[in-house]
Amino acid sequence: MKKLIAGNWKMNGSLESNAALVKALLSHSDDWTCDVALCVPAPYLSQLQNLSKASPLMFGAQDVSTHDSGAFTGEVSAGMLKDFECRYAIVGHSERRQLHLESDALVAAKAQKALASGITPVVCVGETLHEREAGLTEEVVKRQLAAVIHLNGHCISEIVLAYEPVWAIGTGKTATPEQAQHVHAVLRAQLRAASAHADRVQIVYGGSMNAANAAQLLAQPDIDGGLVGGASLKAADFLSIIAAAH
Ligand code: 13P
Repeated sequence: MKKLIAGNWKMNGSLESNAALVKALLSHSDDWTCDVALCVPAPYLSQLQNLSKASPLMFGAQDVSTHDSGAFTGEVSAGMLKDFECRYAIVGHSERRQLHLESDALVAAKAQKALASGITPVVCVGETLHEREAGLTEEVVKRQLAAVIHLNGHCISEIVLAYEPVWAIGTGKTATPEQAQHVHAVLRAQLRAASAHADRVQIVYGGSMNAANAAQLLAQPDIDGGLVGGASLKAADFLSIIAAAH
């Protein structure tokens, strides 16, 4: 299947630096053979909508509300994201699970809201270092995915799934290709049990993916792309990862 390389800018960027970065990326877009997307802070969605026009670059948000409208200060609804032609919305990133105490059930509800608006949720799952060391990796990621399957039923084949071991995020410690492949295969099996169309779900890896380690990770049979943090902020690095995804 076609691979997906998605950048997660997290809370980084400015009008000026975004324009320069996207321009540098698009100057190589004729060479892209995979899906390429950028998940940007909400205030920059309009900028991305303009910059990506008539190009293969897709873009999305980093979160979505479970509510449609109303008294939810600071929240952004799926309908608002749709207004800006967002293709993707990350849900359940570990930074939100940890810093904003998002539960499995809330993440599942966010995925449901995105799907209902025609936005592809990029559902993040992953274990902490403590959980890995306690031998709980499979249990944790399966529990996180089960909540999303439970609420979304057969629509589950419409998601993108991201395996992001928390201990590998922003630490420079990457999961080995074997460690990542093992978890991806577990997730694939869980998706297959839930949907006849599970094999069309892109399961992407995130956690210190960079120009040097991308090719080996992306060569694994169940690694269908990457969710890239730090390296997505540098055009040369992100382009190297895109080039490794064929
Ligand atoms: P890093 O690539 O900076 O480790 O971040 C990964 C991530 O959290 C992507 O969502």
